[in-house]
Amino acid sequence: MLPTDERTGFRVDVDQLDAAVTPRTKALLFVSPSNPTGAVYPPGEVEAIGRWAAERGIWVLTDEIYEHLTYGEHRFSSLPALVPEVLDRCIVLNGVAKTYAMTGWRVGWMIGPRDVIAAATNLQSHSTSNVSNVAQVAALAAVAGDLDAVARMREAFARRGATMHALLSAIPGVTCLEPQGAFYCFPSFAGVLGREVAGRPVRDTLELAEVLLEVGRVAVVPGEAFGAPGYARLSFALGDDDLGEGVRRIAEVLS
Ligand SMILES: Cc1ncc(COP(=O)(O)O)c(C=O)c1O
Repeated sequence: MLPTDERTGFRVDVDQLDAAVTPRTKALLFVSPSNPTGAVYPPGEVEAIGRWAAERGIWVLTDEIYEHLTYGEHRFSSLPALVPEVLDRCIVLNGVAKTYAMTGWRVGWMIGPRDVIAAATNLQSHSTSNVSNVAQVAALAAVAGDLDAVARMREAFARRGATMHALLSAIPGVTCLEPQGAFYCFPSFAGVLGREVAGRPVRDTLELAEVLLEVGRVAVVPGEAFGAPGYARLSFALGDDDLGEGVRRIAEVLS
């Protein structure tokens, strides 16, 4: 049953959230815009999920790294901004990798209760040590600047996401939701599984990813890596020509 949340008016499947809770549950990990699905939760849903966690005393870890990468009418909403009641049990994760195209620089940050941040700092300094000085200085320069570059990137990503979605949707047996944020399409390949592809039996998306790599020379991440067999993640963080060529090869291998 999907009860309508009184304040947000959003229908939230609280029963499903409750069903996922066990006596060992400590935290809800929330990622919107999402990797790998490209989905963006609407504000009413974010608020209802946050209130659900607050009412049950469940910690929230919210990963906001794709906050500036949303498309069309979809907009990012920050869970603790909508539900301040979670603040003493909430950790916000973010970083420079997506907003400033600094993937690989390995600089991010956490915002949360002082004791949790102190413990995480201790853990990090003894496990991975510290972020290199040059990466920290570059990250400071990035966050001190404006967001003009991300606006241009967002335009390019919106175009590439729409192109990838259209090309994938044209392949028989492949269905794909239009990406709302981040830079991934997460199509279902259910319609092409269970038959031979390029002369090889393809029973699941793990086997499909292998055939696409070896025959088509295209890398996709099988949904099994995200607990979602039958799907695969394709990134559109690449040039328009390479993107078109990659999906054309997938279509060719599948035909
Ligand atoms: C949801 C999410 N959070 C965090 C990261 C981490 O980015 P990095 O380790 O490059 O800072 C990624 C990268 O793919 C991501 O998709």
